[in-house]
Amino acid sequence: MASPFVFEREVPRRDGSAGLRLAQRSGGGTGCVVWDAALVLARFLDKSAAHRQAPPGRRLRLPLLRKAVLELGAGAGLVGLMAATLGANVTVTDLEEVQDLLKMNIEKNQHLVTGSIQAKVLKWGEELTGFLPTPDYILMADCIYYEESLEPLIKTLRDLSGPQTHIICCYEERTIGKNPEVEQRFFELIQKDFELEKVPLEKHDEEYRSEDIHIFIIQKKKMNPPS
Ligand SMILES: C[S@@+](CC[C@H](N)C(=O)[O-])C[C@H]1O[C@@H](n2cnc3c(N)ncnc32)[C@H](O)[C@@H]1O
Repeated sequence: MASPFVFEREVPRRDGSAGLRLAQRSGGGTGCVVWDAALVLARFLDKSAAHRQAPPGRRLRLPLLRKAVLELGAGAGLVGLMAATLGANVTVTDLEEVQDLLKMNIEKNQHLVTGSIQAKVLKWGEELTGFLPTPDYILMADCIYYEESLEPLIKTLRDLSGPQTHIICCYEERTIGKNPEVEQRFFELIQKDFELEKVPLEKHDEEYRSEDIHIFIIQKKKMNPPS
């Protein structure tokens, strides 16, 4: 079998400093390339963190410095890497078969990391061993795309998140095949235990945005105290 073709993508930073360089490869699963939702989410993080110095009314309140961040279905690792360059302590996770690409991309961009970053295997729905519970943020880009994964994915979100955890979920709305049903089902299921807030398009990065790519900030519903 021919060895996979590796090609690189550079993702520029908003402040014009050195961009992130991501290796991608042909012939692997969906995790081997950078998807548009990851570009949108990464630049949204870059924009939101850049607003730390902005007047309070304009703040997006996503400080990442020294925060514990876990990314699910990280693929090539762009989103987690962006968070790590913004000072977060990040664990990027995905299936076993994507770990070598993730590790390669961490190594390629290590010089830009101001927090920390490590890669681990995490298959949605499985028991969590060796993971810090209740990270400050859980990030996910383009992880809502097949029916069988929805319940395991939501179980993992439930198991990992505490009352202070913010899940930042970015997905591309697709109109082909079963995608609309899958997206609708995800939202039905997640709203049982979580509250969702949509980030308006004008708060996304001005260049890396699209009408069909959405960002939601999701938090576990507060438990009512026993009466
Ligand atoms: C469409 S890709 C998105 C990759 C990356 N977040 C991006 O947007 O570029 C979906 C990712 O979810 C991962 N994934 C799919 N099913 C999974 C599962 N059951 N457990 C963990 N990861 C899974 C895939 O390996 C892949 O990396």
